Parts: sequence; C-alpha cells; structure tokens
Amino acid sequence: MPRIVFFSIKGGVGRSTALAATAWSLAQAGKRVLVLDLDLESPGLSSALLPPERQPMYGITDWLVEDLVGNGDVVLDSMVATSNLSHDGEIHVVPAHGAEHGEYIAKLGRVWMPKLHADGRRETWSARLERLLQALEARVRPDVVLIDSRSGIDEIASACITDMGANLILLFALEGEQTWNGYRMLFEQWQRAGVAEQIRERLQVVGAVVPELDRVEYLEGLREHSYEVFGVTLYDDIAPATPDTVGPKEVDGKRTWQVGSLVEGWNFDEADEGAPHHPWAVNWHRSFAGLRSLQGRLAVIDTQEVKAIFGPLLEGVNHVAEVTRQA
Ligand SMILES: Nc1ncnc2c1ncn2[C@@H]1O[C@H](COP(=O)(O)OP(=O)(O)O)[C@@H](O)[C@H]1O
Ligand SMILES: [Mg+2]
Repeated sequence: MPRIVFFSIKGGVGRSTALAATAWSLAQAGKRVLVLDLDLESPGLSSALLPPERQPMYGITDWLVEDLVGNGDVVLDSMVATSNLSHDGEIHVVPAHGAEHGEYIAKLGRVWMPKLHADGRRETWSARLERLLQALEARVRPDVVLIDSRSGIDEIASACITDMGANLILLFALEGEQTWNGYRMLFEQWQRAGVAEQIRERLQVVGAVVPELDRVEYLEGLREHSYEVFGVTLYDDIAPATPDTVGPKEVDGKRTWQVGSLVEGWNFDEADEGAPHHPWAVNWHRSFAGLRSLQGRLAVIDTQEVKAIFGPLLEGVNHVAEVTRQA
C-alpha cells in the first residue's frame, strides 16, 4: 500500500488543504483512501474532511496514550470515520484527537513515550506508530494512505518522515531563507544519521501556495534555491573526469583509449523536471484563502477547479500510487 507523507518546515503553507484536496481527488477516481492526522500539535485535517457530527470518539493521541497501558485495541474500534465528501471512492479519516478532546493537551505530553513491555522490551514511539499504521491498514484496506505530518525540524518531525515507510515524501516549501535553511539542516541531519541515501529517492519538493503575481519568476527562484540545498546535501558529487580515468593509455605497448569507470552518482540537472528538487506547484487561489470551513469548500468543488489549483501534485501522487501498487 502506498504511503504518502505531507511535510513542511512551517505551518500555514496550505499543506493540510492540499492533502484534503488530494484525498478528495483520489476518492473521486474511485480509490479507497486512508488519511491520518499526525500533526498532533496543530491538528486540523479531520475537521477539513469531516463535519462535527461525524468525528469519531478517539484519535491517534488517544491510541498512543492508551497503548502505553495495553488498551490500544479499545481505542482502535472508534478512531476511524468516513468522510461524506467522497462520491465514488471512500475517504477514511483518523483524526489527531477524538470528538471529546477534554484531556488532549495533557495527553500530548505522553504520546511520544516508549512502551515498556512486560518482558522488559522497550518499544520506541515510532515503532508503536508503525504498529498502529499496520493495524489501520489491515482494517481499512486502503488503496493509498495519506499522512499529514508534524512540521518543523525536531526529532519527532524528522522521524515522522524517515520512519513511516513512506513511498513518497512531499516537502512543502515557500520561497525564502527560512524554508531552505530548515530543509538544509534537516537533510544534513539525515546525512549524519546515515538515512539520507535510503530516503532521498522518495523526496519531492512541492511549491506551496504559489502566488498569481510573477508566478514564473517565483517558481524559478524556488527551483534555484531548492537545487542549491539538494546539491550540497543529498545529491552525489559526480567526480570530474581525470587523466587517470579517461584518456589515452599504453597497454602492452599499444596505445588505447581508456574509458574509466566513472561512477554515475545520484544527481540531477537544475532544470530536470523529474528531479526531486523541481517543485510541483500548488497555486494560491482566492477561493481557498481565509476559508472558515474547508469542509464546506470541498463539498462544492469540482474536478476542473481542483486540477487548476493542485494539478501537478495530483498527477505526481497518482503516478507514485500506481507504480507502488504494481510493484
Ligand atoms: N491553495 C491555496 N490558496 C489560497 N489559500 C490557501 C490555499 N491552501 C490553503 N490556503 C489557506 O491557508 C491557510 C492555511 O492552510 P492549511 O492547509 O491549514 O495550512 P497548513 O496545514 O500548512 O498549516 C488556510 O487559511 C487556508 O484556507
Ligand atoms: Mg495543517
């Protein structure tokens, strides 16, 4: 099952909105979609996809806390709701918190704790989360899983990217130093931790709320700075040809042309549209700006509108979902 993680350095960049629109679009195409709100510190996705009366009793936070004391299964039965926005397919939503969120803030302090099992085994929170994901996938049997991740560059946010077994990791980016300094620190951390090579092929930059004004220049700047950061961190340095590896050589008294074994690294041209640094653009659109209810907006949206705003993102997600399912 393809798992797709939506991440951003900062909040307020339209990430949850884009995820909701992606879920809507996949469901519209007849898919079963499982959506998880893992942005526990600033939840909002479930209210975008579910009206208040459909909110389930529990959420991911309740499960993570109850699992510590062996009560996870009780919560599992009441933490998934179906959205009424889906027409042909289905959107199954797992919120960050349940309808009765009384103890929510107090519970947040315990969610990232490891579990100590009776046999002395210590299970990390990310292993516990993987166990939850597998249980939900076995229950819902989705065609695709969309995960709204925590933002920022702390250890938890980073693990939400590296430890979720994602097939595609969407990195939402606004043009600006804050974004690129943040991504650079994150990528460097992955290099130090030795996970960069393992996840870099699954990364994809998304241009968040791309402005209408000077759109082309904006996207060029975004691409240039994205390329700079990928270039100095995740892309391999491709060794320049040296006389030792390429050039004329005497072998047994005969002059031959040696083509050295230049190692082709993992690298891309700045202009390569298929490169992970090359942004998929999500357009700013007035019909989404300052919305009171995304739920209300999605209820009246149509395929053409969604395509005009989120087109490249939807195509990319569809492509990865298809490739993963065929593999
Ligand atoms: N494509 C868009 N065009 C204009 N405004 C948008 C767009 N996407 C989201 N917004 C608005 O931006 C704000 C933040 O969106 P949200 O999806 O909650 O961001 P995030 O999940 O990154 O914090 C909301 O007021 C939302 O209505
Ligand atoms: Mg959000």
